[in-house]
Amino acid sequence: MQDGRTTLTQFIIEEQRHVAGATGDFSGLLNDIATACKVIANAVSKGALIGLLGNAGGENIQGEVQKKLDVISNDVMIRSNEWAGHLAGMASEEMDDIYPVAGEHVRGKYLLVFDPLDGSSNIDINITVGTIFSILRSPNPGAQAKLDDFLQPGTEQVCAGFALYGPSTLLIITSGHGVNGFTLDREVGEFILTHPGMRIPEDTQEFAINASNERFWEQPVKRYVDECRAGKTGPRGKDFNMRWIASMVAETYRILTRGGVFMYPKDTKDAAKPGRLRLLYEANPVGFIVEQAGGLCSTGLARMLDIRPTALHQRVPLIFGSKNEVERIERYHRELLTAA
Ligand code: F6P
Repeated sequence: MQDGRTTLTQFIIEEQRHVAGATGDFSGLLNDIATACKVIANAVSKGALIGLLGNAGGENIQGEVQKKLDVISNDVMIRSNEWAGHLAGMASEEMDDIYPVAGEHVRGKYLLVFDPLDGSSNIDINITVGTIFSILRSPNPGAQAKLDDFLQPGTEQVCAGFALYGPSTLLIITSGHGVNGFTLDREVGEFILTHPGMRIPEDTQEFAINASNERFWEQPVKRYVDECRAGKTGPRGKDFNMRWIASMVAETYRILTRGGVFMYPKDTKDAAKPGRLRLLYEANPVGFIVEQAGGLCSTGLARMLDIRPTALHQRVPLIFGSKNEVERIERYHRELLTAA
């Protein structure tokens, strides 16, 4: 405790004390991730002052234009986390293949998967972006990681979290015992526990979806959104509000704070893509956090964390947030199936 405040470092050490046989590896890894997030937060906040806005000149494997800050953030995550001996490998939205810890570095027992800068289309317009991460156990501790090692269902996550680079820099983490939120005190240089035990309200009157895709939606999502929009005089008997930030980390934080539902559902826009967002470094970490906060995360037909991944950059339909709303959307999907 510092002036009655709990720092992230203290929080991690206290947590470690409750785990019999803990070696400190996991605590060390979380500290390195937090350091990387501080470095990225600093770069994001300087933006144009140090020439960091704009495109990097390439595309990632998703065919998305890479921003300079995407590339820098990816590099910061790799360099901060490869040296300490906690990891066997890493994988990132910004790298086609896995990144095995190799060469002079000691290999450890964890795998780190991340999206170094989620929502990066928002960078140039100064809207909140963030870093998402997920920690898995390596099936071959101490050995260089292989692609198959990463293809674990979300239920196997040891820890997940995201940093939010907005008006404040925040770090939200879970290691399976609830969700805790920390705010970066820039003067002190430490994340301080400001949001202990975050819980998502079970009911909500707020939904988030990219409505420009409406013509591609499937019937259950169309039905749900139509009913929300019908408001007080419709079947739901209450008015709803809509939000779309186009930055999933920011939407996740809003939902953790005051409830809501987020949907990037399966649609018919591109038959080759079963969804827009990626399972391993977007849907699974968010799903773990949301479930730990009392919410639900689903594809519409199945619990997200139960999906067995088949590819590193696999896309999935993603629906998460307040429990009663996600259950309703899942019911609409099931009803369509039984009617067919
Ligand atoms: O790449 C992920 C992401 O930027 C999310 O953070 C966000 O929710 C989504 O894509 C935005 O998609 P769209 O451009 O279709 O609104």
